[in-house]
Amino acid sequence: MSTRRAVVTGASTGIGEATVRALIADGWKVLATARREDRLQTLADQTGCEFFAADLTDQTDLSNLAEVASREPVNAVVHVAGGAIGTDRVEDADASAWLRMYEINVLSALQLTTRLLPAIRSAGGGSLVFLTSTAAHGTYPGGGGYAAAKHAERQIPATLRLELAGEPIRVIEIAPGMVQTPEFSLNRLGSKEAADRVYQGVEKPLTAEDVAEAIRWSLDVPEHMNVDLMVLRPVAQSSNTEVVRAPLKVRES
Ligand SMILES: NC(=O)c1ccc[n+]([C@@H]2O[C@H](COP(=O)([O-])OP(=O)(O)OC[C@H]3O[C@@H](n4cnc5c(N)ncnc54)[C@H](OP(=O)(O)O)[C@@H]3O)[C@@H](O)[C@H]2O)c1
Repeated sequence: MSTRRAVVTGASTGIGEATVRALIADGWKVLATARREDRLQTLADQTGCEFFAADLTDQTDLSNLAEVASREPVNAVVHVAGGAIGTDRVEDADASAWLRMYEINVLSALQLTTRLLPAIRSAGGGSLVFLTSTAAHGTYPGGGGYAAAKHAERQIPATLRLELAGEPIRVIEIAPGMVQTPEFSLNRLGSKEAADRVYQGVEKPLTAEDVAEAIRWSLDVPEHMNVDLMVLRPVAQSSNTEVVRAPLKVRES
């Protein structure tokens, strides 16, 4: 079998970076993308991935990325880029932050998908992976804008799976709960202290590597298997609002 090639977005840090490493270790060729070229260059030096720096909210960048990606067969596109802005209550919502979250989580994945589907088809089929969130399946106080964006993003794989019926193209959604990555909560909340409080006392939040392994596995299962949806949470988090901030221990019986 020839080497499979994946395009991974959000590859400059966190889950996307870990996904590049996991796929390369698994024998894939990877084209990594994000805005920060210096970080992509370091990742390329360490892993041998290709990279192309692009802002996925910029139409020219999207087209240039698609052009570079399509020079060779594309067997998988892994949409990881995204993020949250703030924790405003709905009554205090900043509409521009809701719009930005829609752009970085929904329109980026949508527009890259439309641009790369021809490359997937010319490879004879392949896989599209969308990294949504448990916020795509429920909400929580202060999570309205992010949940709205992730609920919208989830409609892309849900609809595509119906529209692509009959083609050898898998459409996969991976929806993690709390993942401790260096930048997600920092970008959302604006300070290291606030970001640290998100994970305070929680025994083993998910890691970027945990989620990358789920992505790798979903791509490596036999080609007739479509992992429609995988929800992942740390054991210490039983829902979007129930997080145990103490060591886990069995109850005395
Ligand atoms: N961490 C969690 O708890 C968690 C849980 C569930 C789901 N998720 C989702 O998982 C994904 C990755 O999460 P993470 O924790 O790894 O987040 P992260 O560390 O904040 O990484 C976000 C990635 O997206 C890229 N990105 C952001 N805006 C972009 C733009 N306009 N154009 C191109 N790339 C852009 C960033 O790279 P540049 O800044 O270099 O562009 C970065 O590589 C996100 O979609 C997030 O919503 C996270």
